Amino acid sequence: MEKRNELYAGKAKSIFATDDPDLLIMHFRDDTSAFDGQRVEQLARKGMVNNKFNAFIMGKLREAGVPVHFERLLSDDESLVKRLDMIPVECVVRNVAAGGLCRRLGIEEGRDLNPPTFELFLKNDALHDPMINESLADSLGYATIEQLATAKRLTFQVNDVLRQLFLDAGILLVDYKLEFGVHKGELLLGDEFSPDGCRLWDANTREKLDKDRFRQGLGGVIEAYEEVGRRIGVDFG
Ligand code: ATP
Ligand code: TYD
Repeated sequence: MEKRNELYAGKAKSIFATDDPDLLIMHFRDDTSAFDGQRVEQLARKGMVNNKFNAFIMGKLREAGVPVHFERLLSDDESLVKRLDMIPVECVVRNVAAGGLCRRLGIEEGRDLNPPTFELFLKNDALHDPMINESLADSLGYATIEQLATAKRLTFQVNDVLRQLFLDAGILLVDYKLEFGVHKGELLLGDEFSPDGCRLWDANTREKLDKDRFRQGLGGVIEAYEEVGRRIGVDFG
């Protein structure tokens, strides 16, 4: 596999072309951003930790029948993925109230959401990722109603798999964000699943073990990511 030119540099990852037009290389950098990119810091080992964490989770999801873009690990901080035409919406499932939901509705953090909720946000940092819905995403041409229905079904399927996987390790999956894209007409789970894009609390102490440690200046960010990884069985080498 030959690595070619950089196609895109996001806030935390860079995407490279390869000699195969259907495949891309995702490079996980050590950059950590919050507040729509207003705060960016380098955290040592983060690229490696998120790359291996994501590879482990994508493997579990594929085993469970979720169609994923992930092909294989290439190095400590690079993975090979299928090239997607990304749908510019973020699919969020919440099992427990936290973050933006608490701010928006004035409800207390930690309240159980039963059944879990599903929300859509537009990927647009300049507008602070505003909430949208299926009808708007359809009317504005971001995705078809069928694609959105599939994305929603798959996002809940991911919840069934990962909620149990984390619970078995004594960790609550509070909420998470997924991104989807289209490859040769098929909707696949893209981007990453790591503690950067979800909330994970220790099930007993409710200690935060995710990116909220960075957002809230709690320290020990990568140590917490590694702790979660070790508990669920990620091999960081
Ligand atoms: P955000 O943090 O809001 O997702 P970003 O662009 O800064 O935005 P990064 O994770 O740094 O995020 O960059 C990765 C980019 O690559 C994202 O825009 C994501 O949508 C895109 N992407 C992820 N998987 C694929 C794929 N298989 N094919 C094409 N693009 C992808
Ligand atoms: P949410 O509570 O809506 O936003 P905030 O992180 O601003 O409090 O986010 C719900 C979950 O989805 C949380 O785990 C973070 C994740 N998420 C992202 O990682 N990126 C995003 O752009 C969005 C909208 C959510």
